[in-house]
Amino acid sequence: MLRSVLLNLSTAKWSRRLATESSLARRVASRFVAGETLPDAIRAIRELNARQVTATLDHLGESVVMADDAVRATEDYLGLLEEISKADLCANASLKLSQLGQQLSLDLCAVNLRKILDRAKQKGIFVRIDMEDSTCVDPTLGLYEQMRALGYDNVGVVIQAYLYRSQQDVEKLLSEGTRVRLCKGAYKEPAEIAFPNKRDVDKNYLALAKRLLETSQAARLPADPRRCIPPLAAIATHDERIIRAVAQYAREHNIARDQFEFQMLYGIRRDLQETLAAQGHAVRVYVPYGTEWYPYFMRRLAERPANLWFFISNFIRR
Ligand code: FDA
Repeated sequence: MLRSVLLNLSTAKWSRRLATESSLARRVASRFVAGETLPDAIRAIRELNARQVTATLDHLGESVVMADDAVRATEDYLGLLEEISKADLCANASLKLSQLGQQLSLDLCAVNLRKILDRAKQKGIFVRIDMEDSTCVDPTLGLYEQMRALGYDNVGVVIQAYLYRSQQDVEKLLSEGTRVRLCKGAYKEPAEIAFPNKRDVDKNYLALAKRLLETSQAARLPADPRRCIPPLAAIATHDERIIRAVAQYAREHNIARDQFEFQMLYGIRRDLQETLAAQGHAVRVYVPYGTEWYPYFMRRLAERPANLWFFISNFIRR
């Protein structure tokens, strides 16, 4: 119920205005966002890299409705790739196609994406296409396939375990050698297309994670000694029970540690990130930055009601 309300608010203009004008909301959001500028994010990534944790950098923004904004977002990504390369960081880029104009024109979006993939390729950087709500899944996978057909191999996608269709999508993507990030799914979806119960989402997550690991091990893509390029299997969750089960499955099936990585979000379970890295697991942190933090922040509140109580208690204290 609360999750639903917060996810509805994440797309409401009035609450976005209220939140972005509130210094308290900005302060609470800063727990999940590395800062408003690229130098802030670069600093955060340097700290992660110093702890043997790699990163994926996201310039916040989504659902753009003006072509100029999509072009500007593309330019921002080109700058971000330059900075990753110049600073010699172990980092990928993560982006949302709705930021590049997906909802305006698929052609415009494809042109923008190609510019980014070309620059990323020159710099040896991998680009992950985030997955947005269910209306975006077919167009996103379609554009991904288009890019692969054009010869780009420095790109991968995200699959959401809460969708019934994901098992089929995973099988197809794996048969094409796609690097997949598996997450549970952060949007509000109806029961006709997504598991309504968390227990079923978790069960599907673990089953899909095992498929990713098995396939990654069988494909044995050459390991990247610096771990800058992600392996085929990226296990994106903070769920300790699932993480333990995945690590155990890997041990029992002799799946090498360079064939999968754990991914977590900036500001969430840093203790777990450090423990896994200290155990020799590959760990990557998703580092968002920028001024367009509102919908991202609301999805983080929706995931964990305790975050909301933290926000409210700060508000009452003030
Ligand atoms: P779950 O929600 O069960 O949480 C498990 C535990 O993790 C909680 O008990 C708590 O301890 C901790 N936790 C989880 N969320 C927290 C929060 N917000 N604040 C504090 N603690 C929290 N989604 C999507 O739809 N498309 C995408 O492209 C991506 N991309 C992506 C990248 C990466 C690297 C990650 C880690 C996640 C995503 N997601 C995503 C988000 C994902 O779908 C999911 O909503 C969140 O990861 C929360 O789910 P968990 O798997 O952590 O499990």
